[in-house]
Amino acid sequence: MPSQEISAFSSKEFRSAMRNVPGAVSIVTTGVHPGRHGLTLTAGCSLSTEPSSVLVCVNKSAGGHDTIKQSGSFCWNILAADHAELARKFSGQDGSKGDIRFTDGLWRELITGSPSLIDAICSFDCRLTDSHDAGSHTIFVGEVVAQAINADRDPLVYVNGEFTVPKR
Ligand SMILES: Cc1cc2nc3c(=O)[nH]c(=O)nc-3n(C[C@H](O)[C@H](O)[C@H](O)COP(=O)(O)O)c2cc1C
Repeated sequence: MPSQEISAFSSKEFRSAMRNVPGAVSIVTTGVHPGRHGLTLTAGCSLSTEPSSVLVCVNKSAGGHDTIKQSGSFCWNILAADHAELARKFSGQDGSKGDIRFTDGLWRELITGSPSLIDAICSFDCRLTDSHDAGSHTIFVGEVVAQAINADRDPLVYVNGEFTVPKR
């Protein structure tokens, strides 16, 4: 029977342990052209159903962090199996920053003006209702004011440093 190893840890070991935690891959967007920002994000989840709300945890150093605060909105786009390249781009792996990232992917606006990815599994367009300081990150809470769905698409998952697609 497998047994867990208990070890002392620092933030480095914490990051290393977190590599084992599978995460649904998303892109959080904010702002309007030519001031759009977007970042790849796994630290997001549903928060409540009444009102319909979600939370996303965004590093304070991320390009889009202050624009979420200033614009008071963001869109949480859940990525599909064929979005690995887009996820790499929006995590800055090709060196791109800011609005230029949106040259890849098909984007539109729903209600708030934050970019919504047309072929995402789900896009939740949110009005910012709360934010909480959380060390290196800010927890942004958003009330969903519009949503768009492609229910038949397979999800993209990130685990052990790789993008994968779960078996059906
Ligand atoms: C799979 C994956 C998951 C990530 N999850 C998060 C996250 O939950 N929160 C966050 O702030 N950054 C996360 N990042 C890092 C950002 O995507 C990355 O720092 C991005 O470049 C920030 O945008 P910027 O270049 O405009 O600052 C993740 C990156 C990857 C590859």
